[in-house]
Amino acid sequence: MSVSADPVKLMKQEVGKAAAALVKSNSIVGLGTGSTTAYTIQFLGDRLKSGELKDIVGIPTSFQSEVLAKQYGVPLTTLDAIDHIDIAIDGADEVDPLKNLIKGGGAAHTREKVVDYLAKEFIVVVDSGKLVDRLGSSFAVPVEVIPMAITPVINAIKKLGGQPELRMGVKKAGPVITDQGNMVVDVTFEKIDDPVTLETTLNNIPGVLENGIFVNCVSQVLIGEVIDGKPSVRQM
Ligand code: A5P
Repeated sequence: MSVSADPVKLMKQEVGKAAAALVKSNSIVGLGTGSTTAYTIQFLGDRLKSGELKDIVGIPTSFQSEVLAKQYGVPLTTLDAIDHIDIAIDGADEVDPLKNLIKGGGAAHTREKVVDYLAKEFIVVVDSGKLVDRLGSSFAVPVEVIPMAITPVINAIKKLGGQPELRMGVKKAGPVITDQGNMVVDVTFEKIDDPVTLETTLNNIPGVLENGIFVNCVSQVLIGEVIDGKPSVRQM
Protein backbone atom coordinates (compact mmCIF):
# COMPACT_ATOMS: atom_id res chain seq x y z
CA MET A 1 0.00 0.00 0.00
CA SER A 2 1.47 3.41 -0.97
CA VAL A 3 1.76 5.88 1.93
CA SER A 4 0.61 9.52 1.58
CA ALA A 5 2.48 12.65 2.74
CA ASP A 6 -0.75 14.63 3.30
CA PRO A 7 -1.41 14.55 7.12
CA VAL A 8 -5.20 14.02 6.83
CA LYS A 9 -4.74 11.27 4.24
CA LEU A 10 -2.03 9.77 6.42
CA MET A 11 -4.38 9.65 9.44
CA LYS A 12 -7.08 8.04 7.30
CA GLN A 13 -4.65 5.47 5.92
CA GLU A 14 -3.33 4.50 9.33
CA VAL A 15 -6.72 4.23 11.01
CA GLY A 16 -8.23 2.41 8.02
CA LYS A 17 -5.38 -0.06 8.13
CA ALA A 18 -5.63 -0.52 11.93
CA ALA A 19 -9.30 -1.48 11.55
CA ALA A 20 -8.56 -3.93 8.74
CA ALA A 21 -6.01 -5.59 11.04
CA LEU A 22 -8.86 -6.45 13.46
CA VAL A 23 -10.60 -8.66 10.88
CA LYS A 24 -10.13 -12.39 11.48
CA SER A 25 -10.18 -15.27 8.98
CA ASN A 26 -13.55 -16.98 8.36
CA SER A 27 -15.60 -13.87 9.03
CA ILE A 28 -18.34 -11.84 7.40
CA VAL A 29 -17.34 -8.19 7.18
CA GLY A 30 -19.49 -5.09 6.64
CA LEU A 31 -17.56 -2.80 4.27
CA GLY A 32 -18.21 0.88 4.99
CA THR A 33 -18.26 3.81 2.60
CA GLY A 34 -15.99 6.85 2.33
CA SER A 35 -12.36 7.82 1.98
CA THR A 36 -11.24 6.18 5.27
CA THR A 37 -12.84 2.79 4.74
CA ALA A 38 -11.45 2.82 1.19
CA TYR A 39 -8.07 2.21 2.86
CA THR A 40 -9.61 -0.54 5.03
CA ILE A 41 -10.89 -2.36 1.93
CA GLN A 42 -7.54 -1.90 0.21
CA PHE A 43 -5.67 -3.35 3.20
CA LEU A 44 -8.11 -6.27 3.53
CA GLY A 45 -7.27 -7.04 -0.11
CA ASP A 46 -3.53 -6.87 0.70
CA ARG A 47 -3.98 -9.24 3.66
CA LEU A 48 -5.95 -11.70 1.52
CA LYS A 49 -3.32 -11.57 -1.23
CA SER A 50 -0.46 -12.26 1.19
CA GLY A 51 -2.37 -15.25 2.62
CA GLU A 52 -2.32 -13.79 6.15
CA LEU A 53 -6.14 -13.57 6.03
CA LYS A 54 -8.39 -16.29 4.62
CA ASP A 55 -12.05 -16.95 3.85
CA ILE A 56 -13.69 -13.61 4.47
CA VAL A 57 -16.72 -12.25 2.62
CA GLY A 58 -17.74 -8.62 2.54
CA ILE A 59 -21.15 -6.97 2.59
CA PRO A 60 -20.84 -3.63 0.80
CA THR A 61 -22.67 -0.56 2.10
CA SER A 62 -22.68 1.26 -1.26
CA PHE A 63 -21.75 1.02 -4.92
CA GLN A 64 -18.47 2.66 -3.91
CA SER A 65 -17.51 -0.10 -1.46
CA GLU A 66 -18.69 -2.76 -3.93
CA VAL A 67 -16.43 -1.34 -6.65
CA LEU A 68 -13.45 -1.07 -4.26
CA ALA A 69 -13.94 -4.62 -2.97
CA LYS A 70 -13.90 -5.94 -6.54
CA GLN A 71 -10.84 -3.81 -7.33
CA TYR A 72 -8.87 -5.13 -4.34
CA GLY A 73 -10.04 -8.74 -4.52
CA VAL A 74 -12.33 -8.89 -1.47
CA PRO A 75 -15.08 -11.47 -2.16
CA LEU A 76 -18.63 -10.18 -1.72
CA THR A 77 -21.97 -11.60 -0.67
CA THR A 78 -25.44 -10.22 0.04
CA LEU A 79 -27.65 -10.04 3.13
CA ASP A 80 -29.90 -12.72 1.58
CA ALA A 81 -27.08 -15.25 1.70
CA ILE A 82 -25.90 -14.85 5.30
CA ASP A 83 -27.44 -14.92 8.78
CA HIS A 84 -25.06 -12.62 10.63
CA ILE A 85 -22.25 -10.07 10.21
CA ASP A 86 -19.21 -10.54 12.45
CA ILE A 87 -17.67 -7.10 12.13
CA ALA A 88 -18.50 -3.89 10.28
CA ILE A 89 -15.96 -1.12 9.71
CA ASP A 90 -17.25 2.30 8.70
CA GLY A 91 -16.33 5.98 8.76
CA ALA A 92 -18.30 8.87 10.28
CA ASP A 93 -18.71 12.61 9.83
CA GLU A 94 -19.07 13.37 13.55
CA VAL A 95 -18.58 11.33 16.74
CA ASP A 96 -19.82 12.57 20.14
CA PRO A 97 -18.43 11.50 23.56
CA LEU A 98 -21.15 8.81 23.85
CA LYS A 99 -20.04 7.35 20.48
CA ASN A 100 -23.19 8.54 18.73
CA LEU A 101 -22.54 9.46 15.11
CA ILE A 102 -23.60 11.57 12.19
CA LYS A 103 -23.02 9.72 8.93
CA GLY A 104 -24.10 10.23 5.33
CA GLY A 105 -21.49 12.62 3.94
CA GLY A 106 -21.36 10.24 1.00
CA ALA A 107 -25.17 9.76 0.91
CA ALA A 108 -24.74 6.09 1.83
CA HIS A 109 -26.16 6.21 5.38
CA THR A 110 -29.24 4.06 4.67
CA ARG A 111 -27.33 0.99 3.54
CA GLU A 112 -24.64 1.74 6.10
CA LYS A 113 -27.20 1.72 8.90
CA VAL A 114 -28.63 -1.62 7.76
CA VAL A 115 -25.20 -3.26 7.67
CA ASP A 116 -23.55 -1.53 10.65
CA TYR A 117 -26.53 -2.16 12.99
CA LEU A 118 -26.55 -5.87 12.08
CA ALA A 119 -22.89 -6.39 12.92
CA LYS A 120 -21.88 -8.09 16.18
CA GLU A 121 -18.98 -5.62 16.34
CA PHE A 122 -19.14 -2.17 14.75
CA ILE A 123 -15.80 -0.37 14.45
CA VAL A 124 -15.81 3.33 13.52
CA VAL A 125 -12.74 4.79 11.85
CA VAL A 126 -12.20 8.56 11.90
CA ASP A 127 -9.49 11.17 11.91
CA SER A 128 -9.35 13.33 15.03
CA GLY A 129 -11.12 16.24 13.29
CA LYS A 130 -14.41 14.29 13.46
CA LEU A 131 -14.65 14.37 17.27
CA VAL A 132 -17.26 16.84 18.61
CA ASP A 133 -18.77 17.60 22.02
CA ARG A 134 -22.27 17.60 20.58
CA LEU A 135 -23.67 16.16 17.32
CA GLY A 136 -24.58 18.76 14.71
CA SER A 137 -21.71 21.09 15.72
CA SER A 138 -20.05 21.06 12.33
CA PHE A 139 -22.10 18.73 10.14
CA ALA A 140 -25.75 18.79 9.05
CA VAL A 141 -27.89 15.67 9.47
CA PRO A 142 -28.37 13.91 6.11
CA VAL A 143 -31.92 12.68 5.53
CA GLU A 144 -32.75 10.35 2.61
CA VAL A 145 -36.16 11.16 1.14
CA ILE A 146 -38.20 9.48 -1.60
CA PRO A 147 -38.47 12.00 -4.48
CA MET A 148 -42.29 12.39 -4.55
CA ALA A 149 -42.30 13.40 -0.87
CA ILE A 150 -39.52 15.99 -1.00
CA THR A 151 -41.74 19.08 -0.47
CA PRO A 152 -43.86 17.79 2.47
CA VAL A 153 -40.73 16.37 4.13
CA ILE A 154 -38.91 19.71 3.81
CA ASN A 155 -41.95 21.47 5.33
CA ALA A 156 -42.14 18.99 8.20
CA ILE A 157 -38.42 19.42 8.93
CA LYS A 158 -38.83 23.21 9.05
CA LYS A 159 -41.66 22.76 11.58
CA LEU A 160 -39.22 20.76 13.75
CA GLY A 161 -36.86 23.75 13.73
CA GLY A 162 -34.38 22.37 11.20
CA GLN A 163 -32.95 24.19 8.20
CA PRO A 164 -33.16 21.75 5.28
CA GLU A 165 -31.05 22.01 2.15
CA LEU A 166 -31.43 19.69 -0.82
CA ARG A 167 -28.02 18.19 -1.56
CA MET A 168 -26.85 19.05 -5.05
CA GLY A 169 -24.52 17.00 -7.23
CA VAL A 170 -20.90 17.83 -7.98
CA LYS A 171 -20.03 17.27 -11.65
CA LYS A 172 -23.73 16.43 -12.10
CA ALA A 173 -26.50 18.96 -12.70
CA GLY A 174 -29.37 18.68 -10.20
CA PRO A 175 -29.73 16.87 -6.89
CA VAL A 176 -27.64 13.98 -5.61
CA ILE A 177 -29.45 10.69 -6.24
CA THR A 178 -28.65 7.90 -3.78
CA ASP A 179 -27.86 4.25 -4.56
CA GLN A 180 -31.59 3.63 -3.93
CA GLY A 181 -32.76 6.37 -6.36
CA ASN A 182 -33.75 8.88 -3.66
CA MET A 183 -32.70 12.43 -2.71
CA VAL A 184 -30.82 13.75 0.32
CA VAL A 185 -31.76 16.76 2.43
CA ASP A 186 -29.02 18.05 4.75
CA VAL A 187 -30.61 19.47 7.88
CA THR A 188 -28.90 21.99 10.16
CA PHE A 189 -30.25 22.20 13.72
CA GLU A 190 -29.30 25.02 16.09
CA LYS A 191 -28.34 22.32 18.59
CA ILE A 192 -29.05 18.63 18.98
CA ASP A 193 -29.69 17.92 22.67
CA ASP A 194 -31.19 14.47 22.24
CA PRO A 195 -29.91 12.54 19.20
CA VAL A 196 -31.83 9.39 20.21
CA THR A 197 -35.18 11.17 19.97
CA LEU A 198 -34.24 13.18 16.88
CA GLU A 199 -33.29 10.00 15.00
CA THR A 200 -36.77 8.57 15.60
CA THR A 201 -38.61 11.85 15.00
CA LEU A 202 -36.99 12.35 11.60
CA ASN A 203 -37.65 8.76 10.54
CA ASN A 204 -41.32 9.12 11.51
CA ILE A 205 -41.92 11.81 8.85
CA PRO A 206 -43.75 10.05 5.98
CA GLY A 207 -41.45 9.94 2.95
CA VAL A 208 -38.22 9.77 4.95
CA LEU A 209 -36.34 6.56 4.28
CA GLU A 210 -33.51 6.98 6.80
CA ASN A 211 -31.40 9.65 8.48
CA GLY A 212 -27.71 9.81 9.33
CA ILE A 213 -27.92 9.81 13.14
CA PHE A 214 -26.50 6.52 14.47
CA VAL A 215 -27.06 5.89 18.20
CA ASN A 216 -26.15 3.14 20.67
CA CYS A 217 -24.58 0.90 18.05
CA VAL A 218 -20.82 1.49 18.11
CA SER A 219 -18.45 -1.06 19.69
CA GLN A 220 -15.22 0.85 19.24
CA VAL A 221 -13.99 4.13 17.73
CA LEU A 222 -10.48 4.19 16.28
CA ILE A 223 -9.05 7.68 15.92
CA GLY A 224 -6.22 8.56 13.58
CA GLU A 225 -3.96 11.41 14.64
CA VAL A 226 -0.69 12.96 13.57
CA ILE A 227 1.50 13.73 16.59
CA ASP A 228 4.88 15.43 16.00
CA GLY A 229 4.55 14.66 12.32
CA LYS A 230 3.99 10.95 12.98
CA PRO A 231 0.70 9.12 12.41
CA SER A 232 -0.79 7.24 15.36
CA VAL A 233 -4.03 5.47 16.14
CA ARG A 234 -5.82 5.45 19.48
CA GLN A 235 -9.06 4.05 20.83
CA MET A 236 -11.75 6.40 22.10
C1 A5P B 1 -20.95 7.84 3.71
O1 A5P B 1 -22.26 8.19 3.44
C2 A5P B 1 -20.55 8.38 5.04
O2 A5P B 1 -21.35 7.93 6.10
C3 A5P B 1 -19.09 8.13 5.34
O3 A5P B 1 -18.87 6.94 6.02
C4 A5P B 1 -18.59 9.29 6.13
O4 A5P B 1 -18.92 10.47 5.39
C5 A5P B 1 -17.10 9.27 6.38
O5 A5P B 1 -16.40 9.46 5.20
P1 A5P B 1 -14.86 9.77 5.15
O6 A5P B 1 -14.16 8.58 5.70
O7 A5P B 1 -14.59 10.00 3.67
O8 A5P B 1 -14.61 11.00 5.94
